[in-house]
Amino acid sequence: MTIQHDKPGTPQGPSGPEPTGSPFDELTDERARQLVARYPVARSALLPLLHLVQSVEGHVSQAGIEFCARHLDLSAAEVSAVATFYTMYKRKPCGEHLVSVCTNTLCAALGGDDIYARLRGELGVGHEETAGEPGTPGSVTLEHAECLAACDLGPVLQVNYEYFDNQTPDSASELVSRLRAGERPEPTRGAPLTDFRQAELQLAGFFEGRDSDVEAPSTAPETVRGARIAAEKGWTAPAMPDEAELPPVPEKK
Ligand code: FES
Repeated sequence: MTIQHDKPGTPQGPSGPEPTGSPFDELTDERARQLVARYPVARSALLPLLHLVQSVEGHVSQAGIEFCARHLDLSAAEVSAVATFYTMYKRKPCGEHLVSVCTNTLCAALGGDDIYARLRGELGVGHEETAGEPGTPGSVTLEHAECLAACDLGPVLQVNYEYFDNQTPDSASELVSRLRAGERPEPTRGAPLTDFRQAELQLAGFFEGRDSDVEAPSTAPETVRGARIAAEKGWTAPAMPDEAELPPVPEKK
């Protein structure tokens, strides 16, 4: 059964109390209530709630699944089905930083595979494994990533979902060494680097005095070069006809 709010903004508490020893404090509980109140149907808050859980634990534990289930009046199985479907929800504790190397076709061909192999060798870990004690300063979780929507800037990697464009094995190695040493190198574009848990809190919708992160420029000059040249030369695309004839669809046999 789902909780149906009469209107958005009507907070509703969890269907049961937090069990003793829960890793989620009163502030997290209050944030969960705020998230639920943002949606006309409570279960719509599940994705940000899972990010909120990761901001506390660095992954989605069984306690995190039950926390979401209680707030949304869902079963643990329903929450688990969602948490295990999306790769952004981690089932093992993450490092202070999550390093995602794009090894999809274009980046792989441009050197993404070499970058991943170099980092795997230097960190001594494989996919979704962590160098250092997860959550402690300088710990780094490595993962393969599918296309990160920056193919024109490949090979790319992300640290806590912030972009580092046009990488090489050497530049990626230096970047990760700096993370391991406690530094926060500046991403190529986007918001200043934080850590995985803080990024997860932002993905849940809480910015903690870092509201300007949303405004950080995310466009790369390479990405808009075609549009800029078209604007300079006065090129435009032909208008779409109001009605376009669709090509015939072959009959299925
Ligand atoms: S293939 Fe790497 S960003 Fe698209």
